[in-house]
Amino acid sequence: MYRFLFSTVLSRLDPENAHHLVISGLRLGERIGVTTALARWCRPAESLEIKALGLVWPSPFGLAAGFDKDATTVLPLASLGFGHIEIGTVTAAAQPGNPKPRLFRLVKDRALINRMGFNNDGAEALRPRLQDIRDRITRLKSAGRHAPVVGVNIGKTKLTPLEEATEDYLSSARVLAPVADYLVVNVSSPNTPGLRQLQDIEALRPLLLAVRQEADQAAEQHVPLLVKIAPDLNDDDVDAVAALVTDLGLDGVIATNTTISREGLSTDQETVRAMGAGGLSGPVLAQRSIEVLQRLRDRLPRTTAIISVGGVRSGDDVAERLAHGATLVQGYTAFVYEGPFWVRRINRRLASLLRSG
Ligand SMILES: Cc1cc2nc3c(=O)[nH]c(=O)nc-3n(C[C@H](O)[C@H](O)[C@H](O)COP(=O)(O)O)c2cc1C
Repeated sequence: MYRFLFSTVLSRLDPENAHHLVISGLRLGERIGVTTALARWCRPAESLEIKALGLVWPSPFGLAAGFDKDATTVLPLASLGFGHIEIGTVTAAAQPGNPKPRLFRLVKDRALINRMGFNNDGAEALRPRLQDIRDRITRLKSAGRHAPVVGVNIGKTKLTPLEEATEDYLSSARVLAPVADYLVVNVSSPNTPGLRQLQDIEALRPLLLAVRQEADQAAEQHVPLLVKIAPDLNDDDVDAVAALVTDLGLDGVIATNTTISREGLSTDQETVRAMGAGGLSGPVLAQRSIEVLQRLRDRLPRTTAIISVGGVRSGDDVAERLAHGATLVQGYTAFVYEGPFWVRRINRRLASLLRSG
């Protein structure tokens, strides 16, 4: 059904408009009560529930950052079966992102290229929205219903100079930590000039220390803090991040963001070149994402969480990441190609793998 809708309608629309159409559909579904029925149908099996980062996750599989940047659709998305939703990237100031077009499909590769540039409503606008979602989640839980973990991914406002990045992240952390189940410092998106330089250990150490202190102080309790890294880091850089995370006793790492590489694609080079700059996501990312996961797992204490993301398409892919030592797994691009019941299929496959031992 979704394949038909995708090939006849969605794939003919500009990818960003198709995205907004899906979001509007989900929100309409919420208003007319469809998502309540969906939540029942897509609820992950109880056997999938895990405990990590001091939280209970209904499934190890969640939605990666970038899909619901402004936390407008968290509960309708969760009704599809995601164990967690990572909202954002949110920046301290609202910003429009890069000029359109800025999202492209590579259908042959079931991949996407995006240079969205952190279009978002800004931290202050997000706070009441997230507070409302938390209140509704508390009510859902007390009614015995499935409720997601909600993470908040923060990044640097484009106009803030790199030297003032820490203050920018701190401002978002102060506003959003009190309404986040976990917080992610995103230093790995390729679409904000200079951002990825913050992955250098000399810049990253003080940034993570400062954000952790600010977040915990604002929330008046410890908020799990993770750092999200790029697949384009070389192995030595990945090792350096692992050493830093261990040294700081950080809660976890999210690996990986999109890549700036264009290798391994079946789409013809001219078409790819015409799409221009941006981060590439989808199956082409899987191999490097797994390599980074394995490197991190070999170097990080067992208690440090790793959220593996990049090229996940199926329940078997999720199981593979978990077998390689991921604590949790996320996906984004395959959701666009596979449709709303993709998550349900993943959860059912995971539950059946668990049953067969
Ligand atoms: C359109 C689009 C927008 C994204 N926006 C963000 C973002 O704002 N922040 C972020 O940390 N990652 C962002 N990502 C990266 C995803 O969270 C994920 O790390 C990446 O796409 C790899 O996973 P996938 O292959 O399952 O898509 C975005 C990805 C896509 C496709």
